[in-house]
Amino acid sequence: MLNSKYIPYFFILSVFLITLVISSCSHPEETTAKQLTQAELIKRGAYLVEFGGCNDCHSTKIMTETGPLPDPAQLLSGHPVDEPLAEYKKEDVVKGKWVLFNQSSTVAIGPWGISYAANLTPDLETGIGGWNEEVFKNALRTGKHMGAGRPILPPMPWQGISQLTDEDIKSIYSYLQSIKPVKNKVPDPVLF
Ligand code: HEC
Repeated sequence: MLNSKYIPYFFILSVFLITLVISSCSHPEETTAKQLTQAELIKRGAYLVEFGGCNDCHSTKIMTETGPLPDPAQLLSGHPVDEPLAEYKKEDVVKGKWVLFNQSSTVAIGPWGISYAANLTPDLETGIGGWNEEVFKNALRTGKHMGAGRPILPPMPWQGISQLTDEDIKSIYSYLQSIKPVKNKVPDPVLF
């Protein structure tokens, strides 16, 4: 039998051992992700935009001998409002035929209609300068214009982009809000 005068010591020892076991099981620094600073968010956003090919459609291009390259002066500003469409035949873009792109890939014409890549720069009136992070995230997650409006048209690959984590979408948003604003009112889509 435990001598009653040792009970307080026994109790203290038990508490010590239990604390030791609990603290050895949880490593908060390993399970809780570190919050990125604003500079880190922007850097990650730039990386994701590059990797995600956003420039492929959202930046107008300079045509080189080896093909189109994003125009550094107008990065991510969408289809230029003053660039007319080349002629095309509507019967070529019906179901089962072709999807046409202009040479900057900022316009696509297919059976659904004509879609123009959006201005993703932070210009207040013509870009996404007036969008808060929630609107941006909801647009990419739901595939609806600004998260609540009409369906976002092809070829915007929102289905894949929607699977990014909240932090990645926040990073892309932070980067896009940090780039040079370009005034360019992209035309509204045309539905066939
Ligand atoms: C294959 C071409 C293509 C690629 C690649 C692409 N987009 Fe788009 N995006 C479009 C087109 C076209 C539209 C306009 C669609 C419309 O008007 O419905 C658009 C629209 C958008 C919009 C506006 C959505 C809204 O609410 O109206 C956002 C935001 C956007 N894209 C973000 C991105 C980001 C971020 C990336 C890269 C991770 C990206 N896009 C890659 C073609 C593309």
